[in-house]
Amino acid sequence: MQSLSYLAGVSIETFNNITKSRAIAILKNGELFGLPTETVYGLGGDATNPNAIAKIFALKNRPQFNPLISHVCDFEMANEYGVFDETARALAIAFWPAPLTIVVSRRDNGVCDLACAGLDTIALRVPRHAMAREIIKEFGKPIAAPSANISGHISPTSARHVLDEFGQELLIIDGGECEIGLESTVVSAIDSEITILRHGAISAEDIVNATGIKPKIANLHDENSPKSPGMSLRHYSPNAPLFMNCDKKNDLEVLIGFGDTLGDFNLSPNANLIEAAANLYKFLREADSQCPKAIKIAPIPNIGIGIAINDRLSRAIAKSA
Ligand code: TXA
Ligand code: MG
Repeated sequence: MQSLSYLAGVSIETFNNITKSRAIAILKNGELFGLPTETVYGLGGDATNPNAIAKIFALKNRPQFNPLISHVCDFEMANEYGVFDETARALAIAFWPAPLTIVVSRRDNGVCDLACAGLDTIALRVPRHAMAREIIKEFGKPIAAPSANISGHISPTSARHVLDEFGQELLIIDGGECEIGLESTVVSAIDSEITILRHGAISAEDIVNATGIKPKIANLHDENSPKSPGMSLRHYSPNAPLFMNCDKKNDLEVLIGFGDTLGDFNLSPNANLIEAAANLYKFLREADSQCPKAIKIAPIPNIGIGIAINDRLSRAIAKSA
């Protein structure tokens, strides 16, 4: 039996030639499906079909000024839709396939305006997850896929999370638990400058090591700094109020620990930041499902992928901008 879900109308399916063909048929029909990637699950649709893209915005309740990432199977496909100068190309060659999204100038070549929120730039990513690449390759066109969660909520790191999020008829390809567990690093690479727009598993240090170029960090308060429209919003939030840098909790609260700060859940008893990133959204969802008065999180060292973890936590706490 293929379907792992016992709920009527919803299907979590294992990946094989039959489910791949179903996903392609869904894409050609302008419908959506749950796409596994190594970062988080995406809500995938044909990036060139404005009707499909409109459905993504509607289903997620996402503001239309917030553009989507177009997922491509390799650099050649990326190059059809975006203009890669030497710097952007160096990044792509060094990292892809990877949890790295590169924003470049857009070619007027098929990805619809709505997917790019009318900007003259486009965000492109070659995912590392082999199933994702295989589906894109077979489809032959970019798949627009935001994280498969209601806008502002916690991103899904398993097929089950996607089902919990949308609870309606949707094919979800089960690619297992996401290896990274945090959304991709987003960088803009235009006019030979690299700016990190969103922190992720690929760090500034990784970028320096691979390209010799020190990236800037987007500055929300500087008019001239490149920015990511999505980063000015409150994001990644559980329902319960969230507090960072805690080492204890009160009654009816949940403590998510790290290392020696044990907690009700522990992101990584050995204080491994990569393991902590992979567990973060799962534990936030589990903690939230207990309807606690508050979710408290132990201090996370602000190095490596810990920078991305702290970035997501601080956005989950922030008031809407
Ligand atoms: O890991 C990921 O990136 C996941 C998986 C599914 O690939 N996707 C994801 O998509 O996180 P989403 O839509 O949740 O976040 C995309 C981010 C948003 O902050 C958006 O504003 C930014 O990328 N973005 C998209 N196009 C952009 C552009 N042209 N310029 C600047 N930022 C852009
Ligand atoms: Mg998202």
